[in-house]
Amino acid sequence: MSRNITFTMIKPGAVAAGHIGAIMAKIAEGGFRFKAVRMTRLSKEQAETFYGIHRERPFFNSLVASMTSGPIIAAVLEKENAVLAYRDYIGATNPADAREGSIRKLYGTSIESNAVHGSDSDENAQIEANFFFNSMDQF
Ligand code: CMP
Repeated sequence: MSRNITFTMIKPGAVAAGHIGAIMAKIAEGGFRFKAVRMTRLSKEQAETFYGIHRERPFFNSLVASMTSGPIIAAVLEKENAVLAYRDYIGATNPADAREGSIRKLYGTSIESNAVHGSDSDENAQIEANFFFNSMDQF
């Protein structure tokens, strides 16, 4: 399993606010290379499956509602130690706690609409990448 890829989404709130370009530029600035990119909109079923690990959490329904409220950008990123490097780079889950200058601090508006998703393990990065991209793709 590659330790060099992670999966990200630019969430509906950030897309609707017109931040796609700024966020993608910031991702590239951090030394992450785009291996695959796709704009799409999640159905309720897709969002529930993607975030299935959180099904029992109190925020699950509002997270699904937020993630299905508009289009998203899905992307596979490459960098050495990508999962940890990207989690560190985007800032804390809650934008209020995120490092100054981080993507979540700059473009997040709430814990759910926190601008971007980032995979939490190499295993999940692969699962999440395969959720959106054909496994024939080279990553
Ligand atoms: P994300 O990286 O997409 O992974 C799960 C998401 O759940 C997380 O970002 C947040 O947007 C959302 N979420 C909402 N409430 C919480 C919470 N209390 N703790 C963690 N994640 C939360």
